[in-house]
Amino acid sequence: MSPSVTLSAIAAGPDDMKALGAVLGGLLRSGDTVLLGGELGAGKTTFVQGLAAALGIEEAVTSPTFVLVHSYRTAAGWDLLHADVWRLEQLQEVIDLALPEQVEDGGAAVVEWGEMAAPALAPDCLHVAIGFADDQSCPGDNASRGLDDNAGAGGARRVVFRALGPNWDQRMAGLKTALAS
Ligand SMILES: Nc1ncnc2c1ncn2[C@@H]1O[C@H](COP(=O)(O)OP(=O)(O)OP(=O)(O)O)[C@@H](O)[C@H]1O
Ligand SMILES: [Mg+2]
Repeated sequence: MSPSVTLSAIAAGPDDMKALGAVLGGLLRSGDTVLLGGELGAGKTTFVQGLAAALGIEEAVTSPTFVLVHSYRTAAGWDLLHADVWRLEQLQEVIDLALPEQVEDGGAAVVEWGEMAAPALAPDCLHVAIGFADDQSCPGDNASRGLDDNAGAGGARRVVFRALGPNWDQRMAGLKTALAS
């Protein structure tokens, strides 16, 4: 098991969160899987909106909570799969989405509440945990589905990027540079 490499950043508001998503979007390529963690209203979809814009996606990116997966064609010609597995109770339901297969066929997957689905996703992935910046608990630790006092709240968020495999370990230096610029 490789050592876990982490980077963190603060998003003061929604536009900042989109900017962080755009930084990752600039590095994302076909074959990638990103797990997005964070409580209800943390800013996961907002992050994906910035990420998608950086990939040249002009359609409005909305929450895929009820349809489970949205697919957008990037300017580079591969598909960005934006999934939200919050409603799925059984791992089998996530397996049925066949996200790893679709990624292999030419796409990248960004999965909200992805920690819950990790066993059904590519193991070598990037974990992005979004937490309320005034919350003392570590973002991503709380994968609870319960309603949270913070849901929909304004204010700063902490975003922690963690490589979960050798592919992303190697790319963290590039992400660090991109976040700093
Ligand atoms: N710093 C911030 N970063 C991101 N979003 C913020 C921030 N401050 C306020 N917001 C607001 O919080 C809300 C976050 O909603 P968003 O749908 O992105 O969260 P989510 O994590 O995807 O929620 P869900 O768990 O329901 O899918 C938006 O209305 C956004 O404008
Ligand atoms: Mg969302």
